Amino acid sequence: AAVGLIIVAAGSGSRLGADVPKAFVPLAGVPLLGHALRGALACPDVVEIVVVAPAGWVDEADSVCRWARSQPRVASSSGPGIHTPGSPDSSSGPGLHSGEVSEAVDTGATRVEMRVVAGGAERGDSVAAGLAALSGEVGVVLVHDAARCLAPGSLFDRVVAAVQAGAPAVVPGLPVVDTIKEVDESGHVVGTPDRTRLRAVQTPQGFQRDVLERAHAVSSDATDDAGLVERLGERVLVVDGDALALKVTTPGDLETAARILAG
Ligand code: C5P
Repeated sequence: AAVGLIIVAAGSGSRLGADVPKAFVPLAGVPLLGHALRGALACPDVVEIVVVAPAGWVDEADSVCRWARSQPRVASSSGPGIHTPGSPDSSSGPGLHSGEVSEAVDTGATRVEMRVVAGGAERGDSVAAGLAALSGEVGVVLVHDAARCLAPGSLFDRVVAAVQAGAPAVVPGLPVVDTIKEVDESGHVVGTPDRTRLRAVQTPQGFQRDVLERAHAVSSDATDDAGLVERLGERVLVVDGDALALKVTTPGDLETAARILAG
């Protein structure tokens, strides 16, 4: 089935303390959304991308899409833009004329259809807006946080492969290193789940389209889409996550991401 991708980028990112929405905060001169798009475009299965931007940032998101499309496609095994790309304002990389890169190096990414729609108040509302904007061609849907801007193409590949193999829902996850406590409202511990059975889950999360649509038809209220699918009683498979798919939330996370990019 054709794979469509929803990138949710409509959050304010108040914990980052920037004066622009989080997806537009620059990392090595490129907005987080630009990095996220490059990782996604490294996955050859993705044929359609819907970016969900804050109302008022749709045009800006559009220009980030055009920039990402103009960049050479990253090999999906080698991680995201390790070679620091040029800024979205300059339509070409250093020493190259506009168009040269995309024609000479990158033919694949140009066949990916991209559009931008405005998001909603909560993350789930933004995913629902993205879902409504997918074309009829798409049978498998990936949902990805722009904030997980360094998720490599290989992670997209892994999630897609598991959905194409028949899983209704797939999430990448990593073992947790901390012991996790469940607490009540007064801060007292209610329980300690067995750590070996816990996973910290990431995005992209992948779904058979009808499963995700049925889940969102009930409610869009959850911190991740797999949570909605679980409520339907559908099985959700966890595949190996990737440390590169960390979510940029605080200024410290942004520094970590910058260090990773610097190699
Ligand atoms: O706020 P948080 O980091 O959990 O957001 C995860 C992702 O969801 C981010 O990429 C953010 O832009 C997106 N989001 C959204 N619409 C919202 C809230 C968050 O698209 N209303």
